[in-house]
Amino acid sequence: MGQIANTGQRYGLVAIVLHWLMALLLVALVVLGLYMVSLPDVGFDTRKIKLILIHKQLGVAAMMLVALRLAWRIGNVLPALVAGLPEWQKVSARFVHLSFYALMLALPITGWLMSSAAAIPVSLLGWFDLPDLIGHDERLFRAFIVIHRWLAYALIACLVVHMGAALAHHLVFKDDTLRKMLPGRG
Ligand code: HEM
Ligand code: HEM
Repeated sequence: MGQIANTGQRYGLVAIVLHWLMALLLVALVVLGLYMVSLPDVGFDTRKIKLILIHKQLGVAAMMLVALRLAWRIGNVLPALVAGLPEWQKVSARFVHLSFYALMLALPITGWLMSSAAAIPVSLLGWFDLPDLIGHDERLFRAFIVIHRWLAYALIACLVVHMGAALAHHLVFKDDTLRKMLPGRG
């Protein structure tokens, strides 16, 4: 099954589970987010409101997972990139990874700020309401919607580059890049 912690060469089980669980969750959040905002705001159809509530709950779950992931990332060795990569690929890979962390933090926080500005509480998985980060402010509410949307577009752009690179390394260059992020030997 491989080991729990990272080694200098490959990711350990905890990092792998967190990576793939969050990849699924973030893709689901983007698809759900884009779909729900396309629905009409009509009073008798509560589908949009229900989906926004689900989106907020999943978004809060992502916020907790990213805190765990960041702690694990800081407390663990970072596996080296495969040997022999050209400099531009090393720089762009690390740049996309860091951008992902920034986006994984900024998206839930702007979601929370948006809800606070709208004076709609954010529940922590139905357990209790999180405190409001800022007071009721319609102008800031609209601004955070736009910021949240553009952060999501940036996440999509990073994902396209990151997935493209992972698949190219696996299928075209046939190196160990993808295997390092899959459970297995070593
Ligand atoms: C990593 C986590 C998240 C991702 C990837 C994400 C992604 C998205 C996307 C793609 C949209 C549609 C944007 C548009 O086209 O206008 C959206 C909208 C929205 N998100 Fe998130 N979101 C996340 C977390 C959260 C959190 C934690 C909350 C609140 C607690 C939240 C609240 C909302 C709300 C209320 C909208 C609807 C905005 C509107 O009325 O136009 N999101 N999100
Ligand atoms: C929104 C979804 C995703 C996010 C946020 C994400 C984020 C990350 C981050 C931050 C790293 C660096 C390791 C770390 O610090 O944890 C990483 C590594 C990696 N990811 Fe993703 N990832 C996503 C989706 C995917 C997908 C769909 C694939 C495959 C098609 C993939 C393949 C990889 C591989 C192979 C590595 C190891 C790269 C290396 O160290 O050489 N990721 N990912």
